[in-house]
Amino acid sequence: MKNSLYSALKKHSQTGTYPLHMPGHKRNFGSALPYDIDITEIYGFDDLHSADGIIKECCLKAAEIYKSDSAYMLVNGSTCGILAAVSSVAHRGDKIIIARNCHKSVYNACMLSELDARYIYPPMSKSGICGSISPETVRAALTECPTAKAVVITSPTYEGVVSDISSIARECHSRKIPLIVDSAHGSHMRFCSFGKSGEPISSGADIVITSLHKTLPSLTQTALAFVNGELVNRKQFEKFLSVFETSSPSYVLMSSIDRCLDFLKVSEKSFANLEKNLSAFYKRADKLNNLKIVCSDPTFFSFDKSKIAISTANTNISGVELMKKLREDFRLELEMAYPTYALAMTTICDEPAVFKQLYSALEQIDKSLKSKTCTAFPSLPKPMKIRMTNAEIDSLPIIDLTKEQAASGKYISKHFVYAYPPGIPIVTPGEIIGLFEYDYMEMLKKSGVSFRSV
Ligand SMILES: Cc1ncc(COP(=O)(O)O)c(C=O)c1O
Repeated sequence: MKNSLYSALKKHSQTGTYPLHMPGHKRNFGSALPYDIDITEIYGFDDLHSADGIIKECCLKAAEIYKSDSAYMLVNGSTCGILAAVSSVAHRGDKIIIARNCHKSVYNACMLSELDARYIYPPMSKSGICGSISPETVRAALTECPTAKAVVITSPTYEGVVSDISSIARECHSRKIPLIVDSAHGSHMRFCSFGKSGEPISSGADIVITSLHKTLPSLTQTALAFVNGELVNRKQFEKFLSVFETSSPSYVLMSSIDRCLDFLKVSEKSFANLEKNLSAFYKRADKLNNLKIVCSDPTFFSFDKSKIAISTANTNISGVELMKKLREDFRLELEMAYPTYALAMTTICDEPAVFKQLYSALEQIDKSLKSKTCTAFPSLPKPMKIRMTNAEIDSLPIIDLTKEQAASGKYISKHFVYAYPPGIPIVTPGEIIGLFEYDYMEMLKKSGVSFRSV
C-alpha cells in the first residue's frame, strides 16, 4: 500500500502545494472516496443511455440552468461529447471545417470517420497565444468549401481566448450547417460577467460541449453536452454518445454533476467573489515590470479572465521555467506552460488569499528577471496534407526523422504529434513534416514542453 496511487494522492494532498490547475473544485468541495453511493443501473436509478427518470431530471435541470434546448450528462469528459458531436453531423468522406487549434478529440473524430478536414487558422498574438477565430475566416472557408457539413471551433480556448460565436453561428446558419463549439474550458462562463459575450449556447451554437470538472466544482471526467435548434439530429447524436461513452456510467460522477448543478443555482455570490478577487489581482499585476498578464490583444474577440495567462515573452525566462519556479520556490502548481507563457486556472473554489499568494510570488520573480525584446512567436504550422486512408497511414514506417529528411519535404507523418498540454496537433497523420514543422517542434522541445506522438 506504501506506493499505491491512492497513498501517493493522499500524500500529495498534504504537501501544501496549491492547485492553480484543474479540477475546478480545487480539492475543496468534500472529502473521502464515496463507496457508499457507487452503484450500477439498479431499479429506480434510471439509465444514462436511455434516461427517463432521475437522470433525465438532471439533464432537464442542466438545460434549464444553461438555457439550452436539451442537455446530456457526460462521464467520459468532453472528449466523448466531441467524438459524438462530430460523428453525428458528418459521414465518411464528408468535408468539415475545423479550427486548427482544436483539441485532439476533434481530430480523432475526423480520423475515425475518415472526414476530409479543412482547417481554419487563428491569428497568433504577440504573447504566443492563439487568437480568436474570426467570422471572416469562417465565411471564407465556407465559400471555399460550400459542401462542408459543419464548423468546429474551440471557445474559450485552454488559455481563455473567446471567439465571436454569434457572428460565426450566423455564417454557418446562412449555409444551413451546424456550428459545434468545444467549450470544454467554459462551463463557468455563463455565470461570469466577463464571459457573457461569446457564451456559446446563448450565441447560437448548435452543439456545445463543456467540461464541468475543468472550471467548476465537479469531479474529473464530468461534462455536459447541449444541443440547440433543428440543424442537429438528436437521435443521431444520442446514438454516437452511446458508442463513445461507457456502458457503466459512474453514479458517483453523475451525482457530482447533479450537485454542481444545484450549486450553480445559488452561486451568484461565489462568482461575484471570484470576479472581485480577479479584478484586484489584475489591478496589482499591472505593476509587474517584466512579466505581463495577458487578457487582451488585437487578435482576441474577448477573454475569460479566470485563466491567468502570464506572458514571459519580454523576459529572460520561458513559461516552462516560470512554472517550475512557482512550483519549487512558492508551492504553486500551474495548469500548463509553453515557451512564452504559463497558465494558472482560477475558479470559485479559490480563496482570496491564493490570488494574493500568486501575485506576491510573481512580484518576487519579476524583480529577479531581465527584460528582453520580444520576438514574434511563429504561427501554427500549416503542413501540406496528402489524402490517405487510415489503412494507408497505418502502413507507413516509423522512423526517427532528421532535419535533412524534413528539409526534403518527402516525409509523411504516421502519427498525431502534439505538445501535451494543450493537446493541439502540430502535425496530423498524412501531413508532411517539412522544415518549418520540424523546427517548430524542436523549438517547443528545447523550451521544455512535453510531447506525445500517437
Ligand atoms: C480544448 C479542449 N477540448 C476538449 C478537451 C477534452 O476534455 P476532457 O478532458 O473533459 O475530456 C480538452 C482537455 O483538456 C481541451 O483542452
